[in-house]
Amino acid sequence: MKILAIETSCDETAAAVVKEGREVLSSVVASQVKEHVIYGGVVPEIASRRHTEAIVPVVDQALSAAGTDLHDIDAVAVTHAPGLIGSLLVGVNYAKGLAFAANLPLIPVHHLRSHIAANYIAHKELTPPFLCLVASGGHSHIIEVADYTKMQTIGRTRDDAAGEVFDKVARTLGLDYPGGVHLDAAAKGGDPVAFTFARPKMPGYDMSFSGIKTAAINYIHNFKQRGEPVPVADMAAIFREAVVDILTSTLSRAAFERGHKTIVLAGGVSANSRLREKMAEICTDAGWRLYMPPLELCGDNAAMVGAQAYYEYLSGVRAGLDLNAKATLPID
Ligand code: KG4
Ligand code: ZN
Repeated sequence: MKILAIETSCDETAAAVVKEGREVLSSVVASQVKEHVIYGGVVPEIASRRHTEAIVPVVDQALSAAGTDLHDIDAVAVTHAPGLIGSLLVGVNYAKGLAFAANLPLIPVHHLRSHIAANYIAHKELTPPFLCLVASGGHSHIIEVADYTKMQTIGRTRDDAAGEVFDKVARTLGLDYPGGVHLDAAAKGGDPVAFTFARPKMPGYDMSFSGIKTAAINYIHNFKQRGEPVPVADMAAIFREAVVDILTSTLSRAAFERGHKTIVLAGGVSANSRLREKMAEICTDAGWRLYMPPLELCGDNAAMVGAQAYYEYLSGVRAGLDLNAKATLPID
């Protein structure tokens, strides 16, 4: 079964053709980073307009790179939630038009579910159940994945997402958007224990990142107010360590207490080098299996949408032409 998948939830216009959920025949990602970098973040109105311009060539390219055309496609899948509403609407409406014109089933896919599914592409042996950390620009969730389409959020951030605080602190440090990747690079060579920020204590498996974000921003401003140079590498390393510590300690406590031995990372923040390194150490010590997407599948792409769509299709999920985009939607 070949699925044509479309993803436009934020600032990447992406399309892919995926066979039986695990084999990627093509994957095209048109990034808008250059458009947004001068503003230091994604400008939603610009993102929607660029999606409108890019969607036709990106889908055409995905079909031709897969050596196929619509006649050979069995279903159309699209990210319908959560994300920037104007961006999502471009993909949803285009997918509805394609499905209607080609008389194909339409499969709506939850963005965070697709981030988890990036791991099915990279790790053919991975099957649920497992415990997953999904950390992106808008979300930080700890999820028990019971089956491909059955999952439950057992912990989440109470305020900012991990990717969001990486981006904000990076911006205060004068690093370019998207800040997470630049802060990760800047932290190399920094001293992560020059000093530390107090870690928040949260109930259950919930997390909080806004306190350490504010502490870091105030600290950086204090250097500037005193007219001293900001120790960028140290600040990046200290802040990265704090975020990674909150994520890994909460995730590993959940795994211990709830008896999970298979741990999965997903979402843009799963590209963070320190998060990958620290979680690998924890899992080796505990005797747990750890799965992480390769770097090219951590960020937004449509291959992961095609992967999740296959399992949604098998479980009977279909959308009608009344499908609408939603800015927020729980994963479970
Ligand atoms: O999943 P994603 O591509 O888009 C959303 O669904 O939000 O995640 C984007 C987020 C951004 O906040 C970005 O700064 C962060 O992932 N990110 C990173 C790294 N690479 C991307 N954060 C920390 N370290 C990285 N290496
Ligand atoms: Zn994402």
